[in-house]
Amino acid sequence: MSKLGQRALNANNAGPVEQRVAKMGRNDACWCGSGKKYKACHAAFDDRIRKLKLEGHIVPEHDIIKTPAQIEKIKESCKVNIAILDEIEKKICVGMPTSAIDDIVVRITKEAGAIAAPLDYEGYPYSVCTSVNSQVCHGFPSPDVILKDGDIVNVDCSTILDGYFSDSSRMFCIGNVDPEAKRLVDVTREAVYEGLKATKPWGYLGDMGQAVHDHCYDNGYTVVREIGGHGVGLEFHEEPWVGYHSKRGEEMLLVPGMIFTIEPMVNMGKEDIYIDDKNNWEVYTKDGKLSAQWEIMVLVTEDGTEVLCW
Ligand code: MF3
Ligand code: CO
Repeated sequence: MSKLGQRALNANNAGPVEQRVAKMGRNDACWCGSGKKYKACHAAFDDRIRKLKLEGHIVPEHDIIKTPAQIEKIKESCKVNIAILDEIEKKICVGMPTSAIDDIVVRITKEAGAIAAPLDYEGYPYSVCTSVNSQVCHGFPSPDVILKDGDIVNVDCSTILDGYFSDSSRMFCIGNVDPEAKRLVDVTREAVYEGLKATKPWGYLGDMGQAVHDHCYDNGYTVVREIGGHGVGLEFHEEPWVGYHSKRGEEMLLVPGMIFTIEPMVNMGKEDIYIDDKNNWEVYTKDGKLSAQWEIMVLVTEDGTEVLCW
């Protein structure tokens, strides 16, 4: 979830789901929709989670574990999000106002019969976020922000198709970018994929967090603390909140069927950020130095991960 101070996620929603599982007979149809009996489907899976919970780990509730049918629908939404970013990748250039990026998002989203998730989300006024140079995230597309030679820009797209959510972002280097800025962009992307490598079923979210963190700090950069990734798919922002200052073996247990984003905001200078108090959205580095971000959407599978959106 990315808006500062709006992590209204319900961390204590254990009640209803646990009750549902407790009531589930071993011969009942499994909660995952497979049509199989619970005992032959997710009973052992639930036992394994329950045991880890008793050992003190943070564990996922069923409402963030996607069924195969839901995953198929989420993948359709991802295809639209990828197509939008692919089109932007083709068109983005020196002299383009960032409002033209918003125009592309609006057009392709409409053609696909989808909805741009950012528009009106908690009052956000555009269909995409375009964050240039020292802007960390939530940059407003504008006819007055003209991309110039040497800029680095993050374009963050999120789509709703048939009620299912996708979310990813990419960095673009405009014209001839300073090698130092290019290195920030490259290291940020590498950090995301280091995080992906550390993401495993029955591992922990902190395995991913530490991998991202270490790659960035080993390269002399810092990672924003207050804003992170999130579960996604059935809602725009679901549990868990995904930070990058976590430690290996800590944070939420990862199980097959979970989907979340890896989207670190990596700063060339200090970690500190501020929000533009004129609009309460646009986030900048406090020291005015560059910030980069890439975002992928990851499904945890039985034997590893699948990147659904990038
Ligand atoms: N895509 C951003 C994220 O990763 C969304 C920012 S909130 C919005 O969560 F309102 F700008 F969409
Ligand atoms: Co996101």
